[in-house]
Amino acid sequence: NSIKFDYSSVCNFVKKEEIGMLFPEAERALQSLKDGNCKGNDFLGWLDLPEQITVEELKDMEETARALRSRTEVVVVIGIGGSYLGARAVIEALAGSFHNFGKADMKIIFAGHNIGEDYYYELLNYLEDKEFGICVISKSGTTTEPAIAFRLLKEMLEKKVGRTEAGKRIVAITDAHKGALRTLADQEGYKSFIIPDNVGGRFSVLTPVGLLPIAIAGFDIRALVKGAVEMRKLCLEQEINPATEYAAARTALHRKGYNIELLADFNPKLHYIIEWWKQLFGESEGKDHKGIFPAGVDFTTDLHSMGQFIQQGPRMMMETVISVEKPHHRVDIPADDANLDKLNFLAGKRVDEVNKMAELGTRLAHVDGGVPNMLVTLPELTAEYIGQLFYFFELACGISGCMSGVNPFDQPGVEAYKNNMFALLEKPGYEEASKAIQKRLK
Ligand code: PA5
Repeated sequence: NSIKFDYSSVCNFVKKEEIGMLFPEAERALQSLKDGNCKGNDFLGWLDLPEQITVEELKDMEETARALRSRTEVVVVIGIGGSYLGARAVIEALAGSFHNFGKADMKIIFAGHNIGEDYYYELLNYLEDKEFGICVISKSGTTTEPAIAFRLLKEMLEKKVGRTEAGKRIVAITDAHKGALRTLADQEGYKSFIIPDNVGGRFSVLTPVGLLPIAIAGFDIRALVKGAVEMRKLCLEQEINPATEYAAARTALHRKGYNIELLADFNPKLHYIIEWWKQLFGESEGKDHKGIFPAGVDFTTDLHSMGQFIQQGPRMMMETVISVEKPHHRVDIPADDANLDKLNFLAGKRVDEVNKMAELGTRLAHVDGGVPNMLVTLPELTAEYIGQLFYFFELACGISGCMSGVNPFDQPGVEAYKNNMFALLEKPGYEEASKAIQKRLK
């Protein structure tokens, strides 16, 4: 069993033959990824990751997770961007919806993904009476947001439990050789894991960056990797496969002027999968003044806000829906004698039946309104299918990026805000830039 991709509803907007004509281009792009002669080819490590992870590596992560769980009641996972979203996506998808509120087995908290002063004040307060540990993730080891978070939490932990015990409760995931975090981890003797040189942040969920926090949260990382292995096999062994189909269909639409892609879910647990996808496609494709703008919507919630725009605003959006066939639990809608809300026609139906009809109704309405629709179906929300989904999207992203002629594996544009921020904060080395920016602001 595996996830399915269906682009039949796109054919109202672009002829099947037009998509068909793009298959050779998609296959060439796939081949260039496999041969390693595409742009950005020093960052293709993700292609073979699922096959290359060894049982020893998985065991090491599982044992580290167990040790950290046994010493703590809360683990703060520090990271941003590609060093954050994959882990959060899986944890939020698999955990109970209220896992951070009740008496949970292991509470995971995220930090280092913002610079909100109140967030940190409240986090430090929350941790005051908790036995906590830290999983700090940064490939460069120098990113400002996680570095600030780590400074604050490391100081607090060392004060609370002493430097020796703190050293046992901190795990670092970073570069093998360079960066401040590598130096500190070596100095302090923290348990550490390596992010391979040839895997960029947004493609790193199947390295310890994603796998260790997921294991700490108590989920099955072997099933996640198994899913990715399955999808890799399916996609790399056939020229036409779900990833080439998705890349060809969205590229055909883009070339017809559809410049925005909405990824929509009908299950709140998928919110962070969408956030992960937004980063994957946004950072990979949006450059050289090209790209499809990736946007996310949670349905039916956002049908009551963004639904109007999607149905009747400017016609420039395509939509991909992620559908989960089978929920884990059953909830039936009760009958009500008064029937004031006139919903007795739903009595005895499962909540999911209503949700599925909302999903089908929305897809039909959006197609009628001029929004081409694609569908990705997961049989169930499990680690294995999420592993398949990750590899499917990563490969389709690599193929799409190659088809549009950009380097899908760099992100030079991210530096612009950092340079201004450092100039404004008068970071040593930025003296000239500081003068220039102050002059500009006068
Ligand atoms: O995809 C990327 O490369 C980025 O989103 C990075 O993951 C993000 O900026 C964090 O970088 P680092 O892991 O070096 O702290």
